[in-house]
Amino acid sequence: MSLFDDGSFVELDTFVTHRSTDLGLDKQRFEGDSVVTGHGTVDGNQVFAYAQDFTVLGGSLSQVAAQKISKVMDHAMRMGAPIIGINDSGGARIQEGIDSLAGYGEIFKRNTLASGVVPQITIIAGPAAGGAVYSPALTDFIYMVEGIGQMYITGPDVVKAVTGEEVSHEDLGGATAHASRSGVAHFTAESEEACFAHVRALLSYLPSNNAESAPSNEPTDAPDRADTGLRDVVPDAANQPYDVMDVISKVVDNGDFLPVHHNFAPNVVVGFARLDGMSIGVVANQANQMAGMLDIDASDKAARFVRFCDAFNVPIVTFVDVPGFMPGMQQEYGGLIRHGAKLLYAYVEATVPKITVILRKAYGGAYIVMGSKETRTDVNFAWPGSEIAVMGPEGAINVIRRREIADADDPEAKRTELVNDYRDQFANPYVAANRGYIDDVIDPAQTRPELVKALRMLESKVDTLPPKKHGNIPL
Ligand code: HXC
Repeated sequence: MSLFDDGSFVELDTFVTHRSTDLGLDKQRFEGDSVVTGHGTVDGNQVFAYAQDFTVLGGSLSQVAAQKISKVMDHAMRMGAPIIGINDSGGARIQEGIDSLAGYGEIFKRNTLASGVVPQITIIAGPAAGGAVYSPALTDFIYMVEGIGQMYITGPDVVKAVTGEEVSHEDLGGATAHASRSGVAHFTAESEEACFAHVRALLSYLPSNNAESAPSNEPTDAPDRADTGLRDVVPDAANQPYDVMDVISKVVDNGDFLPVHHNFAPNVVVGFARLDGMSIGVVANQANQMAGMLDIDASDKAARFVRFCDAFNVPIVTFVDVPGFMPGMQQEYGGLIRHGAKLLYAYVEATVPKITVILRKAYGGAYIVMGSKETRTDVNFAWPGSEIAVMGPEGAINVIRRREIADADDPEAKRTELVNDYRDQFANPYVAANRGYIDDVIDPAQTRPELVKALRMLESKVDTLPPKKHGNIPL
């Protein structure tokens, strides 16, 4: 499988050679230098790309290689088409010194200016070391090819010299490390071919640029398809786990879901799907991982995804079952407040159609963050058994009825009675629905038909932000 449609790739700048004469480079000239650039089509849509060539001086970035890459990036911006970079390089060409560094600077500048204008995708198919990692980091999605892709700011030798830690290239900056621990990589692929196939699938959910609507395909699944199985997926008991993927796959077209950041912060699930042919971004708490609590990594993961969707006009569907933010010193010292605020900010800022379904728990600040009405969400549904409250019944009763429980003849019986009263009175979706915070309490089996109707209603949505240069998201 190649990245482009058969026969569509057109190569640019094949005659370009470097002009450096320092350190023996005058005897090492290569047509095209260390990068192949060009354009072609993916499923008929125009896409620009560059691929570094490790066989030419280790794929190192010369001044002219940077100029070639900058040229295709400029084309991508002017033509409003995605840009894909395949990285396989020893970094700045040492012999060219500052000219090479400035070349990186030109690329970083274009990555930043293209952010939110055209989708940018990076494939790491070799080494990416030092400052060279910042071009990938500025793009929307990073793929790493297992076994060959490596990214780090400083390699194992420098790590050992500075910190004394001994670590292999793979453990420090391999695909697994970045896809599961650091969150730097969004996807891994077992081979370059598998990677290209996945990139093509990802592109099928995205518009070519921020001025286009998200793709809407010919529907292949009935919009009114109910699924009674959804009534049994979520256990009644608030603390019993289940797999939220069972909800997502029963709701979206043909059960097809493309997860993003699958192995990073698994307590929140994000990814792309279709509803009645329309591309959507899905955000969902994962009850079988840390009870679906929001922590630092989950907040970052979901916030970045929500902002991507908003930048590229992809509607957002949120499935909520969240007991709250993760307690603990590690989280507080790590800045959970700052990171959680990113998610709140991302939802409020997003002007794309937004629909939320509360499946079970929606407590406290986490209720507000996860696409509540107050984050400017357009349509809010709840399933009948859901609990929307400041906190869970047990926690709430322990705070507000502590004395009454302590004074009771049988404290445990009293606690149970008060918890049940609280649950009946407050921990249900009807209090919120009475006040219009929830638009409708729906039969779980009807979730897909209700979502499709809401999404169709929202197709003509226009919403704006107050005029500003840009906001100040709590980074
Ligand atoms: C010029 C380079 C080069 C570089 C490799 N080569 N990196 N030439 N500039 N940066 C050349 C080698 O001399 C060699 O040439 C050929 O590419 C293949 O390299 P090998 O070392 O034989 O390959 P391998 O053993 O696979 O090791 C790959 C490697 C290693 C891990 C990438 O080459 C390496 O550590 N390179 C230097 C990495 C680095 O420190 N780069 C600078 C990072 S800082 P011959 O002629 O012998 O085949 C940076 C700053 C960016 O990039 C700043 C942005 C702001």
